[in-house]
Amino acid sequence: MTIANLPGEWPEPIVRVQSLADAGISAIPERYIKPPSDRPSPPPPQNPASRHPIVGDDDIPLIDVGPLFAGDAAAAAAVAAQVTEACRKWGFFQAVRHGVEPEVMDSAREVWREFFHQPAAAKEAYSNSPADYVGYGSRLGVEKGAVLDWNDYFFLHCLPSGWKDHSKWPATPTPLRDVVEKYSEQVNKFCGKLMKILSTNLGLEEGFLQDAFGGENFAACLRVNFYPKCPQPDLTLGLSSHSDPGGLTVLLPDPDVSGLQVRQNGNWVTVKPVTGALIVNIGDQIQVLSNAVYKSVEHRAIVNSNQERVSLAYFYNPRGDLLIQPAQKLVTPEKPALYAPMTFDQYRLYIRTKGPKGKEQLEGFGKKHQG
Ligand code: OGA
Ligand code: NI
Repeated sequence: MTIANLPGEWPEPIVRVQSLADAGISAIPERYIKPPSDRPSPPPPQNPASRHPIVGDDDIPLIDVGPLFAGDAAAAAAVAAQVTEACRKWGFFQAVRHGVEPEVMDSAREVWREFFHQPAAAKEAYSNSPADYVGYGSRLGVEKGAVLDWNDYFFLHCLPSGWKDHSKWPATPTPLRDVVEKYSEQVNKFCGKLMKILSTNLGLEEGFLQDAFGGENFAACLRVNFYPKCPQPDLTLGLSSHSDPGGLTVLLPDPDVSGLQVRQNGNWVTVKPVTGALIVNIGDQIQVLSNAVYKSVEHRAIVNSNQERVSLAYFYNPRGDLLIQPAQKLVTPEKPALYAPMTFDQYRLYIRTKGPKGKEQLEGFGKKHQG
């Protein structure tokens, strides 16, 4: 399936969700109201007497990855095993002692909170278009009449350096650009470690995944999500269900407000952020390269009526022009290649055109049709 180039303009005038929240409306406009099947659901009923607790009523795994940065090989191997298990089963985990400094995490979150709290003009100067999505945005997808999500965001490229354009990063608050640079550097190091672990535990060379991403020429981008308070949080979503199209995602959550939900066995599990933790998940490109050993799992964000929420989603991606396909060593007569080769530049056009649509892309046209 091919998707045409993206248009240069949004199909409808853009309304900032924050402006709706600030106006103090008591009912959300119709274009944010999800069909009942997509609305946040109360957690599944639990029977305390059951001897078989419902799988998925727990939180995602919490892993202390500190040993990856120390000299104890046995301890590092134990962490690697936990990471691998989490990525096979959940596609998600929380990591503590990940090497990203607490001050850097806090300032990254705070500069962005400050950015969104500036007067409209300071933000509108960076207003984005669907042509490249870079800048201040309020929708994902270009389908006219689509039901929208309750969030505004800022999207920027950190790598490759040719795509990084500081003039498209906010000039205010003043420390923002330096803070984002530092945050990006530290998260890249953490991701580099994870890439080695994930490669080794597929029975491949430790550099396999990184090489597939372009080695030193990998790509990285940041989507900062701002979820304003919502007067009717039961009718909408902050971000509709999707899997991340890229490689690895590192999410810096809001420590005070939860909202991320992960799909596990058909249930939506709300992640409770642990202090100092980063939330890691597998994206579609690693599912493809691993021939579905590692899973990119559906997730979404819910909103609430009394607290806004800020999250930073950092995407560690393949260089856009490389063909991504299942590792040859993982393709056998018993387990043929599940996905056809595609570049990430091509792949990401789907979500940019249609908006967040669960796992439709990977399970639909991304899947290789046999015969
Ligand atoms: C994303 C994402 C979840 C959140 O930006 O891709 O899934 O909790 N964000 O903000
Ligand atoms: Ni996501």
